[in-house]
Amino acid sequence: MAEAAARVLRVLGTGGTIAGRAASAHDAVGYQAGVLPVHALLEGLPRPAGWTVQARQVFNIDSKDMSAGHWRALLDEVDAALAEPAVGAVLVTHGTDTLEETAWLLQAALAPAKPVVLTGAMRPASALAPDGPQNLMDALVLATDERLQAGGGVWVTLAGRVFDAASVRKVHPMRLDAFAGGDAGPVAWVEGGQVRWLAGLPVQPPVAVARLAPQQWQRAPWPRVEWITSHAGADGALVRALLLQHRAAQSGAVAEAPLRGLVVAGTGNGAVHAALAEALGQAQAEGVEVWLTTRCAEGRVVVADSGGRAAQRWNVCPLPPAKARVALLLHLLQRDATG
Ligand code: SIN
Repeated sequence: MAEAAARVLRVLGTGGTIAGRAASAHDAVGYQAGVLPVHALLEGLPRPAGWTVQARQVFNIDSKDMSAGHWRALLDEVDAALAEPAVGAVLVTHGTDTLEETAWLLQAALAPAKPVVLTGAMRPASALAPDGPQNLMDALVLATDERLQAGGGVWVTLAGRVFDAASVRKVHPMRLDAFAGGDAGPVAWVEGGQVRWLAGLPVQPPVAVARLAPQQWQRAPWPRVEWITSHAGADGALVRALLLQHRAAQSGAVAEAPLRGLVVAGTGNGAVHAALAEALGQAQAEGVEVWLTTRCAEGRVVVADSGGRAAQRWNVCPLPPAKARVALLLHLLQRDATG
């Protein structure tokens, strides 16, 4: 009987602390992220049975510097990998700082039928006790898990916990278990090389996602979408400054992309300071799309049928601010493509 061909697990390296190095093994803070190649991270790790692991370096950066260009390159790589019949899963090593944004970008733009798993680390590879190798081992297990093979989707694992792409957020700057899933919590644990699921799959994203065509994300430049926060004393000066830039860009006086979208992280249940709200109204009048979410760490804005305190003037997004910004970007890319 012919042996079944091994499925391919494509590991894409993008940098981060997991690929970071410091001058001393005792330094877990003053290091440089995105130094080691992804091949080096995989050295010595056990491979899942029945799988061939293939690694590719897409780029190697500190994820704070993630740009639309990096995202376009990553979307191209992940999309191409998923389209290969031999590839059963994709794993992305990524800096933790913007990992939640990339996770949502991949979920919303690709809605992948095969699993895509992201992982990173809180300590550099050169640390005395790095967390990267364990996280990467867990990610190999998760990406090849039978349940995920059936369900696909984008997932994140760090410190033995598994989160869905919509819920995951970085909630701590230092702890090894720096990520949380808010109200959803972790959906699974990776323990001793096995995945213990806590939630039924698939997890439904809180917003409808329409897969993008490659030509849609390959358009450059991407629309300018900024994210601002309402707070005590928010007087709208930031919005007015953005509108000055917007007008200058539109008239060609500056070679920058005009402002197309604004995500506002409101206080509490999406409340916005009256002075900021006035400036946002001006932005809308000048064609800027305004979306509202909450700056609260958990929950989402609830709009009562009867109206009430939450602003009714803006599209309310159920995602946290960083992901709402990605969602608005993708919305504008789609709208531009369809005219
Ligand atoms: C980064 O996001 O690239 C640096 C921080 C980290 O990975 O923890």
